[in-house]
Amino acid sequence: MKNVMSYLRVIGFMILAFFLLEFIVDSGEEWAIVKYPIIWAVLGVVFFFAVAFEIVAAALQRVLYTGLDDEAKKRYATIEENQFGWIKKKYKEMLDSKPIEKEQEIVLDHNYDGIRELDNNLPPWWKYLFYATIVFAGVYLVYYEIFDGPNQIDELETEIAQAKIDIAKYKENNKDLIDASTVEFLDSPSDLAAGKAIYTDNCVACHKDSGGGGIGPNLTDDYWILGGGIKNIYNTISEGGRAGKGMIAWKTDLKPSEIAQVSSYVMTLHGTNPADGKEPEGEIWKEEDTLEEAVKENETADNTEV
Ligand code: HEC
Repeated sequence: MKNVMSYLRVIGFMILAFFLLEFIVDSGEEWAIVKYPIIWAVLGVVFFFAVAFEIVAAALQRVLYTGLDDEAKKRYATIEENQFGWIKKKYKEMLDSKPIEKEQEIVLDHNYDGIRELDNNLPPWWKYLFYATIVFAGVYLVYYEIFDGPNQIDELETEIAQAKIDIAKYKENNKDLIDASTVEFLDSPSDLAAGKAIYTDNCVACHKDSGGGGIGPNLTDDYWILGGGIKNIYNTISEGGRAGKGMIAWKTDLKPSEIAQVSSYVMTLHGTNPADGKEPEGEIWKEEDTLEEAVKENETADNTEV
């Protein structure tokens, strides 16, 4: 029993040191102990001193003890014995078992070939646990069945809604993580204004201010050589047109967020029908053209050829 206190003190001290360090060291959202492995070393030193302190204290205690007179030693022994007294007492109470000497009081009359039964009380720890489950069941019933507390589906929906908010926030903070497969049309005036500025700086030489086309094709009509829609347009601007046609890959000059802005701006040019617009080139592109439909169209085209 004597050493228990030492162990508890060291453990408690280590926990205290750990949280103190976590509190003091600024490590952002991460645990400081993960971010800075040096903290392990600091805790190691703390541990060393805590153990050393306990050893020295125990040795000192022994020296002092031997110097005590008999009277004092006896007092010391009772103090030792009463250590954790209330825990021991509570433990006994919770078991409520009869000591062997008193078993005679609760033995039942039945005698099965010498086997006899004791009429013990239910252990209070067990009984209280049982009462607790009854209370829990009552609260549970009222909360979930009568007052319609959230069920698992509601919880899932809340979490999904939260996840959507988190994703939106994440995208907001990481605008350059988009590519042709994830890009979406940006409809905010600031994005479109930025897109227009990028277009004016880089694209008018070949596509004209109006988008009507010059060296490059008309961007305002329904016809697209390399496919319309935000994802195809993004891809064309990012990766460039067909080799030798003059449309370079802009991904080295423009950031993904900028390509998304100028792609969105190009989308807004659709249907403006400028007076000096070039003849349509390529094929009609419809927004609902999915991959499957494109494959089907291709097949029917092949069939008619045969
Ligand atoms: C040097 C001239 C030139 C410049 C500058 C230029 N383009 Fe092009 N662009 C072309 C040509 C030529 C094509 C056709 C490519 C092909 O046929 O493969 C084209 C194609 C495109 C297409 C696809 C059109 C379709 O019908 O599929 C888009 C979208 C486009 N350009 C957007 C832009 C944007 C946005 C910029 C500015 C960042 C830009 N272009 C700068 C010459 C240019």
